Amino acid sequence: MSANKQLLVLPGDGIGPEVMHEVWRVIDWMERRRGVRFEISDDLVGGAAIDARGTPISPETVEKAKSVDAVLFGSVGGPKWDKLGFDMRPEIAILTLRRELGLFANLRPAVVFDPLVEASTLKAEVIRGLDLMIVRESTGGIYFGEPRGIETLANGKQRAINTEVYTTDEIERVARVAFDLARKRQRRVCSVEKANVMETGLLWRQVVTALHQREFADVELTHMYADNCAMQLVRNPRQFDVIVTTNLFGDLLSDLASMLTGSLGMLPSATIGGLDGSGRRHALYEPIHGSAPDIAGKGIANPLAQILSFAMLLRYSFAMDDEARLIENACTTVLASGLRTADIMAKHCAKVSTQVMGEAVVRELDKLGA
Ligand code: IPM
Ligand code: MN
Repeated sequence: MSANKQLLVLPGDGIGPEVMHEVWRVIDWMERRRGVRFEISDDLVGGAAIDARGTPISPETVEKAKSVDAVLFGSVGGPKWDKLGFDMRPEIAILTLRRELGLFANLRPAVVFDPLVEASTLKAEVIRGLDLMIVRESTGGIYFGEPRGIETLANGKQRAINTEVYTTDEIERVARVAFDLARKRQRRVCSVEKANVMETGLLWRQVVTALHQREFADVELTHMYADNCAMQLVRNPRQFDVIVTTNLFGDLLSDLASMLTGSLGMLPSATIGGLDGSGRRHALYEPIHGSAPDIAGKGIANPLAQILSFAMLLRYSFAMDDEARLIENACTTVLASGLRTADIMAKHCAKVSTQVMGEAVVRELDKLGA
């Protein structure tokens, strides 16, 4: 039996807890059927933590996150906490974890599941078979740059400031993640910035180009301005394999890319850091969808993105590729069998609850993993 794998589960707010509930079934299956042992703790984050402890994420939770092999995150936020001050927003929880754990590379796949090809607002012929990966820088850029703030001017009016900053090292390490990933895919990286108007874009392009020449000449590298990339993603998304870009552009482009698939409820993501002293790589896994407060508590949310986030966790934190693929195949088979949660409901399909979807995945695991 393999050594314990330590996980911290942070369900968060809205539909977070109910979709996370379905992941427990999959974890349980892995333990029963694959002889894996997980050591799991859970904790409050986001609005739930604000209500219970007066802070979106407590220092103890951050320390716990630092001490485990991987964090499985749900989603945070909701109207209840919308009016709170800037430092008290539930979103601070995820930003704090990214910063404190040094999770600088946010991997956001946009994959079209064949049974869902009609769910996209784009034509099936444009998106069928789409499989692209956005690598978004996630601890730098304008999200964290100083100076920042809102100041009052002499004339009584105000001025707000945010700063886009990137160093050579910050660019190089995230580009390396993208090139490494591309080697396991179609060996194509498109680096995205706005070198035509921003110095950070200029440096970004130089550093990525130099790294490519030095270490990754076997991978094809192209460059694209971020505005053009947005347009190209809608026009012909299959031209991309791996996209690497800055924090803010990656935030926008990954939302766009996820909607190409027509199924936000399906997409997982991983945010990974560098190796620490003990050879451990911090990592956090979360669905791309938010906390969807409008449907929370109704038992109708789609649990597949959360389940697929767990699959990503197995692949990237524990090199359990076979098990990850098993989960991904189980999800695809369940969709092919015509089961749908409300968000992806289609003609001639059966609308099912969160729980029935979770149970169906486990039943498929039983068949596939037999
Ligand atoms: C995301 C979210 C976050 C971001 C928010 C919740 C801080 O939109 O993960 O993309 O902007 O990075
Ligand atoms: Mn976002």
